[in-house]
Amino acid sequence: MIFKWFNERLEIDKFRAKFLSKTFPTHPTFLLGEMAFFSFVTLVVTGIFLGLLYEPSTKMVALFGAMVPASYASVVKIDLLPMGMIIRRIHHWSAMLMIAAVLAHLTRIYFTSAYRRPREINWFVGLGLWGITMLAAFTGYLLPYSQFSVTATSIAYFISKSVPWVGDWTSRLLFAGEFPSDATVPRFFFMHVMLVPVALLGLISLHMLILVKQKHTEPPSNRWLKESEGGRKLIGIPVWPEQTVVSMSFYLFLLFVVVLIATYIPLNPVETYGPPSPGTPVMRPDWYFLPIYGFLKLIPGDLSFSVPGGKITPETIGGVIFPGFLALVLALIPFLDRAKQDQHYMANPLRRPFMTSFGMAGIVFICMDAVSGYIDVLHIAPAKMAVYVVFATLAAWGVSFGLLRSYNRKRGSDVKT
Ligand code: HEM
Repeated sequence: MIFKWFNERLEIDKFRAKFLSKTFPTHPTFLLGEMAFFSFVTLVVTGIFLGLLYEPSTKMVALFGAMVPASYASVVKIDLLPMGMIIRRIHHWSAMLMIAAVLAHLTRIYFTSAYRRPREINWFVGLGLWGITMLAAFTGYLLPYSQFSVTATSIAYFISKSVPWVGDWTSRLLFAGEFPSDATVPRFFFMHVMLVPVALLGLISLHMLILVKQKHTEPPSNRWLKESEGGRKLIGIPVWPEQTVVSMSFYLFLLFVVVLIATYIPLNPVETYGPPSPGTPVMRPDWYFLPIYGFLKLIPGDLSFSVPGGKITPETIGGVIFPGFLALVLALIPFLDRAKQDQHYMANPLRRPFMTSFGMAGIVFICMDAVSGYIDVLHIAPAKMAVYVVFATLAAWGVSFGLLRSYNRKRGSDVKT
């Protein structure tokens, strides 16, 4: 009855026939994109709860007899609420999971060449999604306004200020003036709960529309299946009900894992860090910012040179040029590895020695930069560590390229990629 009422007005039947019967190919690695999306959903739901109780202000208020910033006090109070702490932890663990899922998804796209023609645009949209996901994590970090958040954010402030020509302007735009100041927390709060989620939602919708239009790449086994079945168009399962049941079951499983982890493993305990104080604590950023932090540690402190209108400092090199260069290399990938025809199937990484070994070298380089964030603990001099980074990267490239080339020589070229 209700369905009929809506159907007469909105022609839901037509939509159902068109979209819900669409076929999606299946492969376990296709769940990585879904993992990123479902983590985002959990972040929005838990974020609404936190946003209702959080106070985006640095005015000093009394908390257990001490004067602390209101934002810090509100987070401590959330932790004291029944279910408050677990929801905060689910929010933070989901953020970790989303970043890990985006990275794993990007890696899968890279190694199976899914960025090739006609999916280059979705590769660029994906890179944008990655950048905004990192911005979400970065803006969220300051909000509790603990000793840890303020120190971590001030590193980013000095990096953004160090950029010649535009540094002053960008740091004023991001931090709403000098940092720390009373204006920064409201600015970060607005970005974190409004600008970033809306941008993510918009880009995810665009990502999915392009995916539906261009169709998903298929597992290589579908090639043989199609040939034996007389050239079917696409092999997979329909959106409704099969794909929906798979996705919902997967989401429930993810939620179960995140809640379990959040129950037992604390994250960002603001009560332990305390409110900001004049002393600077020794701190390391979360794992996803560790490569940038580690790379900064490898640059000699006195390495700086003048350019017209400004100065390039170690902060500019480590915090802006290094990630900018990596982003540029990723953006150029579809142009470096061009295909003459549309790519319908996932490529086999074992059959692509150059691109696969290039990817392996990139992963080792990033991991070694992350390890460099610990040189003080490992007691390794920066110059020595830089040599290790270069050596490990070249070794990863050379060894994987050599192994894959000899594998392909033995197997011949019977498989198209
Ligand atoms: C918030 C972040 C992201 C979400 C929620 C997301 C979601 C998805 C989903 C659900 C799919 C279909 C299933 C799959 O292939 O895994 C997909 C496909 C795709 N994604 Fe993403 N993605 C994100 C980030 C990225 C990034 C960082 C890249 C690469 C730079 C990327 C590039 C692509 C491409 C090229 C496809 C088509 C794959 C194919 O046809 O085989 N995405 N994405």
